Amino acid sequence: MVATGVSIKTRRLHPWPVRIMHWINAAAMIVMITSGWGIYDDDVIIGGLHFDQTWRLGSWAAESLLWHFAGMWFLAINGLAYLIYGLVTGRLRERLFPIRIAEIVQTVRETLRFHIAHEDITHYNAVQKLLYLVAIFAGISQVVTGLAIWKPIQFSGLVSLFGGFQGARLVHFWGMAVIVGFLAVHVALALLVPRTLLAMLTGGPRLPSQAPAHEEITP
Ligand code: HEM
Repeated sequence: MVATGVSIKTRRLHPWPVRIMHWINAAAMIVMITSGWGIYDDDVIIGGLHFDQTWRLGSWAAESLLWHFAGMWFLAINGLAYLIYGLVTGRLRERLFPIRIAEIVQTVRETLRFHIAHEDITHYNAVQKLLYLVAIFAGISQVVTGLAIWKPIQFSGLVSLFGGFQGARLVHFWGMAVIVGFLAVHVALALLVPRTLLAMLTGGPRLPSQAPAHEEITP
C-alpha cells in the first residue's frame, strides 16, 4: 500500500499460513471427533449415550482407532505450528487479547437482544476471543489427555495428574464435548455472517503490517 509517497507494508487479515492451518485443523478435528465416537461406543462412559453409525468414522472400533491415530498427527503437528506461528508473529496476542469482562457482559446482552452485528470483521468481540481461547485450550487438553490414554505406561506421570487412566479418559471425553459445543456455535456464526467465512478462505481485507488488526486504515 502507498500513501502520500510512503510505502506501508500490508498483510491480510488472515495470512495464508493461518488459513491453511485453520482448515487442516477443522478437517483433523472432524476426523478426531467422528472416529472418537466410534471408539467410545466400544466402552461407553455415559450409560445410554451411544453414537449412531451415521456419525462414526470407521465401521468398527478398531477401524475408528486407526482413523484416530492417523488424524492425531495432523491435529498435534498442525496445532503446534499454529501456536508457534501465533506466538512468534505476535498474532495470537494481537487478535485474542485483551479480553475485558465488561465487554463480555455487553456482547452477551447484545446477543440476547439479537444484536449480533459483525460490521467490522477485522475485530473479534470479547465473547469470540474467549471462545477461541477455550477451543485452543480444549485442543491442547485433548492432545495431552490423548497421549496419557495412548501410552499410559510411558506417560504414567501425566496419567496420575488426571487421577488415573479413567480420569484422563473422562477429561478427554468432556474436552470433546466442549469442542463439539464450540463447533456448533462457531459454524452457525460463520454461516450467519458469510463475510467471515469468505475472509477465512481468501484472506480478507489488507491491513497495515504493524498496526493491531482492529485499527482502521486511514488512506
Ligand atoms: C468446518 C468447520 C469450521 C468452520 C466453517 C470455521 C470457520 C471459521 C471462520 C469463518 C473463522 C473466522 C471468524 C471471523 O473472522 O470472525 C474462523 C476462525 C477460527 N476458528 Fe474456525 N471454523 C471451523 C472449524 C474450527 C475448529 C474445529 C476449530 C478449533 C477447534 C476452529 C478454531 C478457530 C479459531 C481459533 C479461529 C480464530 C483464528 C485466528 O484468527 O487465528 N475452527 N473459523
